[in-house]
Amino acid sequence: MPSPTELPPALGDYIRNSGIALAVSTTKGDAPLIAVNDAFCTLTGYAEEDVTGQNCRFLQGANTTEEERLPLHDFVHGRGADNGRFPITNYRKDGSEFRNFVFMSRLFDGDGQARLILASQFDMTSAMQRSEVSKNDARLSQALTDVEQIGREYGYAMMGSAQLIADSVATLARMSFSDSR
Ligand SMILES: Cc1cc2nc3c(=O)[nH]c(=O)nc-3n(C[C@H](O)[C@H](O)[C@H](O)COP(=O)(O)O)c2cc1C
Repeated sequence: MPSPTELPPALGDYIRNSGIALAVSTTKGDAPLIAVNDAFCTLTGYAEEDVTGQNCRFLQGANTTEEERLPLHDFVHGRGADNGRFPITNYRKDGSEFRNFVFMSRLFDGDGQARLILASQFDMTSAMQRSEVSKNDARLSQALTDVEQIGREYGYAMMGSAQLIADSVATLARMSFSDSR
């Protein structure tokens, strides 16, 4: 069994090779990132070495509200469902603002302890990007199925993620996109 701060190598390889933005942290301390992939780096403008060891809140800034941040805070501190999707205002390394739709899921060890958090970032700033969400979700759903399977080989369990993604199209439909972003 890997130690809590250790990403099983096959899981690390899978995450790094995925075409959708993925980031993984431990649940220890301030939930530091232990791996991000190229798609995450392309979206945010940060290099992997800029961000590993750091909590992902460096993406937040002036227009990020408490209302947006608190659901992520609760999730990262172990409260509520084991998967969630969270809209939040974020900033790239160059300071440009984007609307991020962050998916997060806990990975549990054999004792039922949450050890890792897997996240996927999706840029939903423009109407055109939002229209791509179902395409992104199909890829995310596949990635979650794969991560679940690879994780299982290392004694990790991930619960309910695929269902959450299936439900998220309905979630998106309920969200207001009437702003002019
Ligand atoms: C793996 C992982 C990925 C995350 N990705 C993002 C992200 O893309 N954008 C963001 O604003 N917060 C993200 N967060 C949430 C923040 O890191 C942080 O947990 C959140 O701001 C709540 O904690 P705080 O109230 O201590 O800041 C992520 C957290 C984890 C564990």
